[in-house]
Amino acid sequence: MFIARGNNELAGWSLTHWPRVCVPTMGALHEGHLELVRRGVAYCAERRWPPSVVVTVFVNPTQFNDAGDFQRYPKMLEEDCALCDAAGAACVFAPTVADMYPGGAIAFAGELPAVATEPGLEDALRPGHFAGVYQVVERLFRLVQPAAAVFGEKDWQQLQVVRALVAGSGLPVDVVGVPTVREADGLAMSSRNRFLSVEERRRSLALVRALRAAGQQATPTGAEAAMRHELEREGIVPDYAVVREGRTLRAVGDDAGGVRAVIAAKVGSVRLLDNGPWPGTV
Ligand code: PAJ
Repeated sequence: MFIARGNNELAGWSLTHWPRVCVPTMGALHEGHLELVRRGVAYCAERRWPPSVVVTVFVNPTQFNDAGDFQRYPKMLEEDCALCDAAGAACVFAPTVADMYPGGAIAFAGELPAVATEPGLEDALRPGHFAGVYQVVERLFRLVQPAAAVFGEKDWQQLQVVRALVAGSGLPVDVVGVPTVREADGLAMSSRNRFLSVEERRRSLALVRALRAAGQQATPTGAEAAMRHELEREGIVPDYAVVREGRTLRAVGDDAGGVRAVIAAKVGSVRLLDNGPWPGTV
């Protein structure tokens, strides 16, 4: 597996590896990320392409609302490269901030799609976050020039923002979503889970119980009440626990993209996200 530490190294490697599948990450990789890599390898095999999966590892400063959160983000490139290699990646692209933002990290000036600004979910709770995600994903796509890119359903609103980015920019990238990988007890895998105490780890299971309870309800209102009830039982007050159109994240109407139950909640000081199909189960 090749490790490209800058744009020039990536460009050199890219000359002989086409078509490419990109898996954007911020590193500190776990089984959820590795499932995306394996999906990318399978995507290549299904098309009889050589297995050219590029995992990008870049802790993007422009998508953090809090400088402390950015500083604390775990960095472990060597372990990440070994995991990517074992999962079948052909290249890890680990650019520096200067590679990604040659003129300095300037504020995003373009227009964001509605799903990045209107739902009142992550867009409202983390102002500026999707501008940073949009900016970095667009730059990664222009540098890597992938034919396809793999993202997790775990960050449901982010996945919809990326789909809208591709639809709006005309970049020829097939966006592939991968279902959330969970621990044996149902907790969605996340780089943040390591910060949960033993007691918080136990309480955090209320999120998956809430999604399962919601999935059994006959109406969106019933589903939202069931989620609040499950979370309250563990003393968790969510940032939101709602049922929305899957693609636009607007109030439920007649969107053909399916309906999703989405939750964000702090357990102790750790903010967790999860979502599942509605009706249905995770
Ligand atoms: P990061 O949080 O590292 O996540 C990278 C990818 O892994 C995302 O597509 C995310 O949805 C997916 N992922 C995380 N946990 C998962 C799980 N349990 N199951 C399945 N997929 C999972 O998301 C980002 O980085 C950044 O915002 C990024 C897109 C790289 C832009 O900086």
